[in-house]
Amino acid sequence: MLTIKDKRFRLLLTEERIKDAVSGIAQRINKELAGDFPLFLAVLNGSFMFASDLLRQVTIPCEVSFIRVQSYSGTSSTGDVKEVLGLDADIKGRTVVILEDIVDTGVTLGSLAAAMEKKNVGKLKVATCLFKPDAYRGEGKPDYIAFEIENKFVVGYGMDYAGEGRNLPAIHVLA
Ligand code: IMP
Ligand code: MG
Repeated sequence: MLTIKDKRFRLLLTEERIKDAVSGIAQRINKELAGDFPLFLAVLNGSFMFASDLLRQVTIPCEVSFIRVQSYSGTSSTGDVKEVLGLDADIKGRTVVILEDIVDTGVTLGSLAAAMEKKNVGKLKVATCLFKPDAYRGEGKPDYIAFEIENKFVVGYGMDYAGEGRNLPAIHVLA
């Protein structure tokens, strides 16, 4: 058991399980996007650990950059997605892979995808560490998913609860 501020969390996914699943995604990307010279866009802050672990195992020629969106406060989505920051790369016609820590309602992803379409992205792929199918209201599932989880709040591996817990190497769920 882990306590962060007023809440208690239990271990959901160990470092080992995460490592294996992330390696699996890297291998698929190495096969499926070879020759595309993809641009990976990691969505800060939450995806920093997933992006770092995944990209070290991506062996095909690629580029990496970082973008930022803010849409979350406390333990439930506020729904008001703000601007996409840092999307200054020329993505016209390119294969772009969005890297997310978690796709929950899909609102963030929807606004990101819209911003990319506006800039005439080529192939758009999404890789996420976690996916909550029961919370998802978007269209089409992310292309690369390490784990599908229940609709419960999680922390660790980049994800925070009120600013804390991002540095935890495993993933913990609200007890
Ligand atoms: P969405 O727009 O509802 O899909 O959620 C977008 C963002 O909210 C994610 O990229 C996370 O940063 C954050 N988020 C969603 N669910 C959780 C959670 O269970 N724990 C921590 N952050 C979360
Ligand atoms: Mg995120």
